[in-house]
Amino acid sequence: MSGAGAPAAFSLEGAAQVLRPPEDGLPFLRLDRADELGLDGGSVALDGGRIAGFAPDATARRVDVSGCAVVPGFVDAHTHLPFAGWRAEEYALKVAGRPYEEIARAGGGIASSARAFAEASDEQVLQQASTLAAEMLRHGTTAFETKSGYGLAEAAELRALGLAEELGRRVVQATRSTALLAHAVPPGREAGEWMDAVAALVPQTRAQALDIYVESVAFGLEDLDRMGALAAANGRDLRAHVEQFSTMRSVPVALAAGARSVDHLACLHDDDVELLARAECAAVLLPGAELLGDERVAPGRALADAGAIGVLATDLNPGTSPVASLPLIVGLAVRRYGWSAREALAAITLNAAWVLRLESELGSLEVGKRADVLVLDAPVEHLPYRLGHNPVALVFAAGELVHIRPDHAWRVQP
Ligand code: NIG
Ligand code: FE
Repeated sequence: MSGAGAPAAFSLEGAAQVLRPPEDGLPFLRLDRADELGLDGGSVALDGGRIAGFAPDATARRVDVSGCAVVPGFVDAHTHLPFAGWRAEEYALKVAGRPYEEIARAGGGIASSARAFAEASDEQVLQQASTLAAEMLRHGTTAFETKSGYGLAEAAELRALGLAEELGRRVVQATRSTALLAHAVPPGREAGEWMDAVAALVPQTRAQALDIYVESVAFGLEDLDRMGALAAANGRDLRAHVEQFSTMRSVPVALAAGARSVDHLACLHDDDVELLARAECAAVLLPGAELLGDERVAPGRALADAGAIGVLATDLNPGTSPVASLPLIVGLAVRRYGWSAREALAAITLNAAWVLRLESELGSLEVGKRADVLVLDAPVEHLPYRLGHNPVALVFAAGELVHIRPDHAWRVQP
């Protein structure tokens, strides 16, 4: 029974499918094992904010989940929240054929969002981010990454990290902070000198991970190597935006530096597929950015076949991917990478949790894990198939029923 103040107990009964890992205690699931994910029908009991078991609990509040899939809460391991404003006008330019690099060189792109961030009040930034977090929750995201990166100056980056922490206190979801201290070379500064400033900044931050954007319009391989050394020296994870618009062979450098994830990979070199797939480093694919930026398509099928720790994320940001919905991302990934629904689900649950070091706490349906649980309105195969439809009927976060889609309210015992 729940103690005073603890979430009520729920008994989710009669699901058509319950997504279960091949075994308990796995830190991640390499995608060549995704077909071992179980999808048998059954029931799930939640109590005291934790998953209590896989049989009905007659003492708990009953939830009729007949015809539904019960899956872990989705984890969005790559977002740029919090940020200020949007850049719809740039999207129109891109659609008309202007390349991202050209927009960036003309003072648009990241620099334009940095100006918007500087002009917005703390409360405006937090309001926008909280509204997006609520939209993410309705689409099943119960944990997500926050990033700085639109500060582009020391004090502004620290402000962004402070706002990310405040966002984490305000939202229902679990959040994990990344300091993207090398996103664009700040106006009037030079990459190497800015990296000196980053070295001084890192000890002043509490972010779990450091991130860097490696690209012709941003930072180079030597900066990536240096960010890796900074991460190691300061006890942080290294993450990196790599191989998005051009092939720079960043992956071997990132792996040598001990990266926990390499993100984007649309232009991944063929020779780096096996290397990455064998490493204990996640391949975070961002098909929303690929589609909306008319980027190349990451070799998702080859990475999965080679056994990579595949992850899908929204990359939610005002420039390349203003997308908050992981169900939509799954639809794109399955079609464009040739993935199965199971592969995509592993990529937005356990593997994504591993990137954020949340895998022992959440990311799979196992007794004792945090009760971040979704009820989907159909079997999981519908998730990629009904592109644009939001299949999320009920959301439990840490055992609390935090979202009920009105047409599914009848399922929950009053
Ligand atoms: O992940 N490529 C670098 N960073 C972001 C885009 C940021 C922006 O355009 O505002 C990304 O795509
Ligand atoms: Fe990004």
